[in-house]
Amino acid sequence: MTGSVRFGVVGLGEIYQLAHHLAYQRADGLEATVVCDLDQDVAARTAESLGAEACTDYRRLLEDERIQAVDLVLPHNVHYKVAREFLEAGKHVLIEKPMTVDAAHARELVDLAAAKGLKFTVNENTRFIPAYQAALDVILRGEIGDVTLVRTLISGNEFERLGNPKLWKGRQDGSGGGTIIDAGAHSFYLLKWMFGEIASLRALSDRLVDVSQVEDWSIVCGRTRSGALFSVESSFTSGGPWNERLEVHGTEGLIVVDQHQNPPAMLFRGKRDHEGSPLPGTAYEPRTWKYNSIAAGIESFARSIANDEPTAVAPEDGAYAVRVIELAYESVATGSPVTL
Ligand SMILES: NC(=O)c1ccc[n+]([C@@H]2O[C@H](COP(=O)([O-])OP(=O)(O)OC[C@H]3O[C@@H](n4cnc5c(N)ncnc54)[C@H](O)[C@@H]3O)[C@@H](O)[C@H]2O)c1
Repeated sequence: MTGSVRFGVVGLGEIYQLAHHLAYQRADGLEATVVCDLDQDVAARTAESLGAEACTDYRRLLEDERIQAVDLVLPHNVHYKVAREFLEAGKHVLIEKPMTVDAAHARELVDLAAAKGLKFTVNENTRFIPAYQAALDVILRGEIGDVTLVRTLISGNEFERLGNPKLWKGRQDGSGGGTIIDAGAHSFYLLKWMFGEIASLRALSDRLVDVSQVEDWSIVCGRTRSGALFSVESSFTSGGPWNERLEVHGTEGLIVVDQHQNPPAMLFRGKRDHEGSPLPGTAYEPRTWKYNSIAAGIESFARSIANDEPTAVAPEDGAYAVRVIELAYESVATGSPVTL
């Protein structure tokens, strides 16, 4: 295939405008042919800024032969249904995290795409954050020895959206949960991508925003199959900017990645290395960290279609994250550990 991959984009809300839009503005190997949102004004405005067509009913795109791929940026409860319709219609599908709310649905979509020879994956931006890639390189070179403990923390400010009972975010039937499914999707993908599968987990959650139906704090901890311990903490009630942090402790050293620290990724070699050294290729870019990595994920997906290569984010890893999410909720409900 030559030329730009022609996308239909469905869902032009907050993260589309902040991040996905960058990829369609850059138009590097891809173009937005039709953009769609239930809100006609948003669809029209977005379409005009890209020289694309606007629509309010995504079903119009199913039969549109110009559209090769779709970028779905929708509330969690419709991910499965809409992704399935597009795969059945023969379109490549990139979907925002979490892949689906239900693990069996995620597997079903992965299998359906494979059977139809279509590209399908979750737009997991974690894979495109240079600091995480640099950390993985250091770990694979053995520079911190055997990994003993992995800690992640994602924190952000969702007071406003969780405080509005009409929005999907704070509703169980809209989002399928709170921090575990929403922020956890990133961390469980990261664990799988960088450290392999989880052997066992236990989870706790709590809620500070009363009107919301979903948890706004959670911690999921356990052991990976490789023997490392892990903890995944997430909060939606931080008044600071959205932040991501990763610590990887090994028998020979420590890596600390923190979006708002400058430099954002440090390697400490051994117990007397108090100064540490910045990981190469990791610039201080706290404002664009998230948005650039999301746009890079769309561009990477377009390249995988154009070159008929596997997607950088393995669809199985996106589905695996949903399985872990499901088991974390099981652990919260039963108060017991879960073995995978
Ligand atoms: N990768 C990340 O870091 C990241 C960050 C934020 C959000 N997200 C994910 O992106 C997705 C969207 O989140 P958001 O915060 O932008 O939500 P949002 O509510 O701001 O936007 C969703 C948009 O979808 C539109 N929509 C809903 N149903 C539709 C339908 N049937 N047809 C057409 N349009 C429809 C709504 O009108 C709205 O504009 C979620 O899956 C979320 O988890 C990912």
